[in-house]
Amino acid sequence: METDIKVWTEKINELNKGKEKKYYILTMGCQLNENDSEKIAGMLKEAGYVKTERIEEADIIIFNTCCVRENAEERLFGKLGEVKKYKEEKGTIIAIGGCMMQEKHITQKLKESYKFVDIVFGTHTLENFPKDLYYALKENKKIEDILDIDGVVYEGVPVYREDKIKASITIMNGCNNFCTYCIVPYVRGRERSRNPQDIINEAEDLAKQGYKEITLLGQNVNSYLVYQKQKGEDVNFKVLVNGKEKQVNSFATLLKALDEIEGIERIRFVSPHPKDFTDDVIDAIKDSKHVCKLIHLPLQSGSTKVLKEMNRKYTKEDYLNLAKKIKEKIPEVTFSTDIIVGFPGETEQDFEDTLDVVKKVNFEQVFMFIYSRRVGTVADKMENQIPENIKHKRFNRLKELVEKQIEVQNKEYVGKYVDVLVEGESKNNKDILTGRTESNKVVNFEGSRDLIGKVIKLKIVSEHMWYLKGIYDKM
Ligand code: 5AD
Ligand code: SF4
Repeated sequence: METDIKVWTEKINELNKGKEKKYYILTMGCQLNENDSEKIAGMLKEAGYVKTERIEEADIIIFNTCCVRENAEERLFGKLGEVKKYKEEKGTIIAIGGCMMQEKHITQKLKESYKFVDIVFGTHTLENFPKDLYYALKENKKIEDILDIDGVVYEGVPVYREDKIKASITIMNGCNNFCTYCIVPYVRGRERSRNPQDIINEAEDLAKQGYKEITLLGQNVNSYLVYQKQKGEDVNFKVLVNGKEKQVNSFATLLKALDEIEGIERIRFVSPHPKDFTDDVIDAIKDSKHVCKLIHLPLQSGSTKVLKEMNRKYTKEDYLNLAKKIKEKIPEVTFSTDIIVGFPGETEQDFEDTLDVVKKVNFEQVFMFIYSRRVGTVADKMENQIPENIKHKRFNRLKELVEKQIEVQNKEYVGKYVDVLVEGESKNNKDILTGRTESNKVVNFEGSRDLIGKVIKLKIVSEHMWYLKGIYDKM
């Protein structure tokens, strides 16, 4: 596979010889898509392209799409309208990839109404991108490269990361859960886990490059290797990490192995599923030196009835008990979550149950979503859809509660010393450095640039809604 990519990127280099070519990528959606875009960027770099932030000067424009919620579709079609003129004026290559391309009604619409698009590629064929681009350039062909079945796990795709401190590593792809609101299992296919040695090699390589934080990505990270096990495959891997031999046969053992890597200060992971949050994972987090004690635990709804309709396979009590159990084992733990409001059939009482869980767990961060109907999912066919105005009202009530809780939490930081991984200069003010606590709070402070990439103790002196202010007094 690796050599294939090399062959095609070399051919593109040959075609573009002597000309400086630029790419522009717009990524929609989740961190998995961001990581895929880093791979597209890696392949384009090898093909001789450089990045531009100015869409009008790009020779190739790539949209990496998401289809989890409806507004992403509107955004894509809006963007396509904007870039048509570049195609017409100077022949810019237009490529669209990602989850939305796995939906037939979308590719059909593209074929009918957006004929100027050059390359359409799906989620299972990312590694073909250089080949697709070569044919689009050389033969001026329209390319559609989409696989319906699950692609293989491909290794050796070059990754180009802009951040030099924090990096994501995809550990598995796909989802077997079929939550009734969710389109992901239809567009990303069944669960496929990467070989642990490949993950460890990638993490060790990142550590050597000076990276300090890694985030493990997957639709369902704590099902790592589970589907392979169910299919009867041997998943007892012996891996080498930091020169030592370790066994990896689950998510917990993968965390333990990664914890051994020298130089990686923080390990995060998104997203686990509460139903698969086994005790060995809790113990692995507790016993680890580097796994952050902030756990993202998607709730979706606090109502047992709605959870059943969502096919989440846990009740309100199961969720609360899990959070309690984790807190008992790891007292300093904090939680973040995802919540959907306005799922079909959600009553006022159901919504109150969601608010109740939010109050009880006191999340550090809540990603809030208004339920969005997705063609092809079970929930889209449910009859008791909630009117938009009620969804919005509930969303605002939830937001108000969350913001109040965060305000109280932030006040508790004031006067305390916290460990902060310094990430770089603040975007708005070059004289200010910015970093994050283990619980993922942003902290801004004044300090010298040689602190970037270090974990330091800062005293928190004031709090604001979206960040804390610290001082570095070298304690
Ligand atoms: N509508 C709204 N939110 C959704 N999510 C997934 N599908 C939908 C949908 N149809 C949310 C879930 C998931 C997050 C990534 O996106 O909360 O955890
Ligand atoms: Fe979607 Fe549920 Fe799978 Fe997450 S676990 S990707 S919400 S189906």
